[in-house]
Amino acid sequence: MDFVVLRLIHILGGAFWLGAAVTMFLFLQPTAQATAPEGQRFMLHLLRDRRFSEVVLAAALLTGVAGAILFWRDTNGLRLASITQPQILGFTIGGLAGGIALLLFLFVGYPAGRRMIAIGGKLEAERRPPNEDERRILAAAQSVLSRVGATVLVLLVIAAAAMATARYLPLVL
Ligand code: HEM
Repeated sequence: MDFVVLRLIHILGGAFWLGAAVTMFLFLQPTAQATAPEGQRFMLHLLRDRRFSEVVLAAALLTGVAGAILFWRDTNGLRLASITQPQILGFTIGGLAGGIALLLFLFVGYPAGRRMIAIGGKLEAERRPPNEDERRILAAAQSVLSRVGATVLVLLVIAAAAMATARYLPLVL
């Protein structure tokens, strides 16, 4: 029964995380950039007031933790022979891709987003354009976010595709 709940948390969390990443990086972010400065106000509201990043981060952490527990059980405590057997290989590949995506999001993408929100909020409150220093920090954070966003997206698609097909791998390997 516990594992049914874990699977449910894992799959619903993963579906939400992937959907949110696709929507953010392929649609919302380019739209906000194309419609600046109104688009930047929209992003500030979405990220700071609606706490979009925190909600997605919570879903990503739930997905990763539930997936790690399921993986531990499936591999009898990470035994090498189990990790590489055809029935598990898809989950191993997907788990690695999803795990790296989670670490990138947690330690690189999320902090870069927080730096942008802090400056964006200050500029909005003081009703002024960014100074030279702030412009530099914003540009650096934006460039980190674009690269991390694209990488996380690719890793999540690999994770979802590997896991969706994992049970059928023994038929082709
Ligand atoms: C973050 C790291 C991840 C780890 C460690 C992980 C691990 C696992 C494991 C061990 C299973 C097998 C569950 C079982 O035996 O009942 C599984 C299933 C599944 N995972 Fe993940 N996963 C991760 C990320 C993701 C992501 C990001 C998605 C989707 C976007 C996803 C979608 C799925 C689906 C749909 C299944 C069910 C596959 C089936 O039952 O045939 N996982 N995952």
